[in-house]
Amino acid sequence: MDAVLAARGLRKVFPDGTVAVDGVSFEAGRGLTVFMGPNGSGKTTTMRMSVGALRPTAGEVEACGHRVWGPEGWRARACMGYSPQDAPFRDRLTALENLVWYGLVRGIPLGEARRRARGLLELVGLEGGASKKVAELSGGMRRRLAIAASLMGDPEVLVLDEPTSGLDPGARLHLWRLLRRLAGERAVVVSTHIPAEAEEHADRVYIFHRGRVIAEGPPASLIERHAPRARIVAEGSMPERPPSVAGAVLVEWNPGRAVYATSDPDGALPALVEGLLAAGARLERVEVRRPGLAEVYLALTGEAPAGVSGGG
Ligand SMILES: Nc1ncnc2c1ncn2[C@@H]1O[C@H](COP(=O)(O)OP(=O)(O)O)[C@@H](O)[C@H]1O
Ligand SMILES: [Mg+2]
Repeated sequence: MDAVLAARGLRKVFPDGTVAVDGVSFEAGRGLTVFMGPNGSGKTTTMRMSVGALRPTAGEVEACGHRVWGPEGWRARACMGYSPQDAPFRDRLTALENLVWYGLVRGIPLGEARRRARGLLELVGLEGGASKKVAELSGGMRRRLAIAASLMGDPEVLVLDEPTSGLDPGARLHLWRLLRRLAGERAVVVSTHIPAEAEEHADRVYIFHRGRVIAEGPPASLIERHAPRARIVAEGSMPERPPSVAGAVLVEWNPGRAVYATSDPDGALPALVEGLLAAGARLERVEVRRPGLAEVYLALTGEAPAGVSGGG
């Protein structure tokens, strides 16, 4: 991967002594890079240091070949678009006016800012809301406007802090699809505390835990490396003795329920069902439970990640 944003050994100690980030390194190139971790794990602080909004206590960040905190820092900052968790808008201006304003403060001339703003509203699917006041936009529309605003400078890198938090599942999916589309042409870095979202949409995930990155990689390889085996759960009425099944290990057996663990659920499933039926089981339901990034987090930290039950 050709990294357009890369950080080495980032560390932040706040004046009150809080060590918010403790040696984080990452690389983001074209595609969707997701910072996943519970609240307080250091995602926002890492992003703010990376985009030039918060000075690191130690460590280096490079964007588009320039050091963010070096003498050419403005070049690095100019190639990034950043949207904080609650992007500030002028509520009494319209969506279009807000974007134009974002363009003007970036030094884009008025006519060009208008042209770009209209194009971006269309890109993020907000063309219908152009003349609505920001106060009248739904949560999902507001997030899409924030993304449009961060695109006004035509950045190579887009850094978005929890763009989907607080949205309903439909609006979340809509937003992730937009992010995927944007990530086809540039580096997009997004944070989320919901493992299922990272798992489904990320090209590459950095798992944050207490100010550190504890694992990184494509979701599938993280799951393969760190997650426990899949489970096949059979419910119904079980015979006295469990059958032994090739490629699966019995982990629970009682009159109403059998659970087998396997690293090859698709291969083991037919043999398992056959074995249970041959042994005299009456099956009402058979379910394969595949582990995901939530199980990876649990396996690595011993703590349940946030957003598991509420995750979409
Ligand atoms: N300005 C600050 N002063 C002191 N501590 C802070 C400050 N900002 C964040 N923190 C602390 O740093 C840690 C990481 O926070 P943050 O980067 O916001 O995590 P996340 O975005 O993953 O929720 C938390 O313990 C948080 O309370
Ligand atoms: Mg945060």
